[in-house]
Amino acid sequence: MASDLPLTPPPGAAADWTVPQDWASYTPADHATWDTLFRRQVEMLHDRAAPEFLAGLDILRLSRPGIPDFAELSERLYRATGWEVVAVPGLVPDAVFFNHLANRRFVAGRFIRRPDQLDYLSEPDVFHDVFGHVPLLANPVFADYMQAYGQGGLRAQGMDALVNLARLYWYTVEFGLLRTPHGLRIYGAGIVSSHGESVFALDDPSPNRLGFDLSRLLRTDYRIDTYQQSYFVIDSFADLLDQTRNTDFAPLYAAVADLPTLAPDAVIPQDRVLHHGTQAYARRMPAA
Ligand code: PHE
Ligand code: FE
Repeated sequence: MASDLPLTPPPGAAADWTVPQDWASYTPADHATWDTLFRRQVEMLHDRAAPEFLAGLDILRLSRPGIPDFAELSERLYRATGWEVVAVPGLVPDAVFFNHLANRRFVAGRFIRRPDQLDYLSEPDVFHDVFGHVPLLANPVFADYMQAYGQGGLRAQGMDALVNLARLYWYTVEFGLLRTPHGLRIYGAGIVSSHGESVFALDDPSPNRLGFDLSRLLRTDYRIDTYQQSYFVIDSFADLLDQTRNTDFAPLYAAVADLPTLAPDAVIPQDRVLHHGTQAYARRMPAA
C-alpha cells in the first residue's frame, strides 16, 4: 500500500521509486525463511485459498525453492497477463503506487522478515508482497481489476476520496473472501500470507462475514493492528471487476461523504449477513 510521502525518491532509487532487487544479496538464511513460510502457507491454503490464487502459484512456478528473482518472475507473469513485479525500498507515495498499478506494474518490497518474525510483521516484506499479491495477478480478471484500481486511485486523489478508495483495497485486495460452490475461500493477500489469519478468516466465529457491497465498503473503517472484525465476500472476480471498473465512483464518493463512517465491526440492516460475528476475539484484543 501507499502513503503520503514527499515525491522525491530516496537516494539510490529511480525517479519512479524502483530499485534493483539485488537478488544475489539474499543469504541462504533469507531463502530458508521464504521456504519455511511458503511450505507452511501452501499446506494451510490448499483447501482454503481461492482456486485462482492456487492456479497462480503454478503458473508462476512459485513452488521452486528460494525467494523469487523478480526478473524471472516478471517474465512468466508478463506472458500470463502483461503484468510485471518491480522492487521498491519500502512504502511509496500514493501517486507513485497508483501510477505503477495503472501501468500493470506491481511494486514489491525486497527485504525478508527475520526468523523471529514469521507470524507478525508491521511492514510488508517480500513474502507478503510476492506470495500474497502476485499469484492473483496471473489471473486475467484480477489483473484488470488491479489496473483499474490504479487508474481509480489517480482519479480519487483529485476528488479527495483516497480514504474511501483505500477501504476498497483493504477489504478486497488485502482481506477479501470469495464465495465458491465448495464454501468460502480466501483471496486477500493479507490473509493468504498470514498463518493465523488464514484460519481465523474462514473458521473463527468472531468476525462478521458480509456480502460485498461497494458503497457500504467505501465508508467502513478497518483495523491495521490485528485480525479483521469483518470480511466481505465477493461472488466472483468478474463481478468485482464489473461493479468497480464500470461504475463511476464520483457520485458514490459524494454520497458517502454525507454518511457516517461505519465501525470495523458494524452490521447494518442492508447487509447480506453470511455470519454475524461474536467479536469475542476483538474483545480480547482491544483497539491499541
Ligand atoms: N471506476 C472507478 C472510478 O470511477 C475506478 C475504480 C476501478 C476503482 C476499479 C476501483 C477499482 O473512479
Ligand atoms: Fe499488501
